[in-house]
Amino acid sequence: MAEKIHFTSIDSTNAEVARRFKAETREKEIIITAEYQTIGRGRSTNRWYSDAAKNLLMSWGCHPEFLSVSDQFKLSKAVSLALCGLLDDNNIVSSIKWPNDIYVSGKKIAGILIENQLMGGSIRSSIIGIGLNVNQVEFPPEAGFPVSMKLLTGRDMEVPSLADGLLVKMRAAVDALKSDLFSLDGAYHSRLYKLGEECLFSVNGNEFSGKIRGVDDSGQLVLESATGIRSYGFHEISMIIS
Ligand code: BTN
Repeated sequence: MAEKIHFTSIDSTNAEVARRFKAETREKEIIITAEYQTIGRGRSTNRWYSDAAKNLLMSWGCHPEFLSVSDQFKLSKAVSLALCGLLDDNNIVSSIKWPNDIYVSGKKIAGILIENQLMGGSIRSSIIGIGLNVNQVEFPPEAGFPVSMKLLTGRDMEVPSLADGLLVKMRAAVDALKSDLFSLDGAYHSRLYKLGEECLFSVNGNEFSGKIRGVDDSGQLVLESATGIRSYGFHEISMIIS
């Protein structure tokens, strides 16, 4: 049985799952949601900004031990598609901006922070953190180019029912991976932001243009540029959004 705990305020839902995993001897599922995070974490050293009681802030702690270390990115594919499915259900057409963002009309609506604990060659446990902008309509400049469900639809949404719906979709997507590791690849690529379009990228401060050709099995971005076709990891390349 999954344990579900809701906080009015916490440092970070991902950090709370990590603490609980550390304290637990049994391998169980944990779902932490919060109305507010004092130190919401984004990828790398980024912060995640969310006003109190406006948005979905959730971490799902699970044990996808069937995935090998080299298949880690498949989890990101599953969660991204689950988020897109949830948005589809609310008549919002979204795409997946590699590696872990969900975009609508060139603006970010959700971010995913997956932290895996590895054991031997496989994933012992995974903390899947999701921030989805739901009812917030004003954002600080540090948040980049955000958008929310309310800004797109004009309606307030029930955050807890979105959380429940997302969990159902994430579980279904991870189960699909369990039966076939490649089952999500077609859907993932059909949702990939800017697939086949000429875009600007930056590597070590050097800007160049290229076309996204896909995301390979190890989660690297495959780009075609003037120098040929090459794959990049997410620590080495960023897409320049104008
Ligand atoms: C990103 O876009 O860089 C990833 C953002 C992930 C934010 C979520 S909010 C819930 C969970 N707890 C955190 O501290 N971060 C993730």
